[in-house]
Amino acid sequence: MKRAITPTQVERLMREDDFIVSKTNPKGIITYGNPIFVEFSGYSEDELIGSQHNIIRHPDMPRAAFKLAWDTIQSGKEFFAYVKNMSKDGGYYWVFTHITPDFDPSGGIVGYTSVRRCPKRSAIETITPVYAQMLAAEKAAGAREAIGAGTQVLVDVMTQMGMGYEELVFAL
Ligand SMILES: Cc1cc2nc3c(=O)[nH]c(=O)nc-3n(C[C@H](O)[C@H](O)[C@H](O)COP(=O)(O)O)c2cc1C
Repeated sequence: MKRAITPTQVERLMREDDFIVSKTNPKGIITYGNPIFVEFSGYSEDELIGSQHNIIRHPDMPRAAFKLAWDTIQSGKEFFAYVKNMSKDGGYYWVFTHITPDFDPSGGIVGYTSVRRCPKRSAIETITPVYAQMLAAEKAAGAREAIGAGTQVLVDVMTQMGMGYEELVFAL
């Protein structure tokens, strides 16, 4: 069960040489977390293992970002993004994440692995207003149309910059 946590303005900063690693089954249930994941999330290993990965979802993140993530990894591709996460105490931490599918020998997806590095501050400054705009569009559109509206904001930014999604992420 996900409890309601009140977000705070307390930020945790990743160190340059940190890697936050977690693994999930195909449905996004956490099956592994390294000690730095445990540290930043604020949850115990026991609380994390078996929980949905949205346990650390921050309400400032637009739904369309996760839709793009899942569409990408479920099609067998890798996914990169800047993500704002929420710790158990309501504090937040930004990461630069790379999620990859784990395959069995016949090519079936048996789960996913995410490795997160310390994000560039300048990238966070650029992406924060984009996510805020996506979130605002999602809220204005209502639940059923939210993902489409959030995605449209991202597509507009990509069009404006003349870049695909991955290109945009790496240009930040
Ligand atoms: C390997 C893996 C790692 C993930 N890491 C995060 C993460 O760090 N933060 C996050 O909010 N969602 C993460 N997700 C996405 C969540 O599963 C979920 O889609 C997201 O939190 C949105 O939750 P919601 O659809 O319940 O709103 C990850 C998914 C996978 C497969």
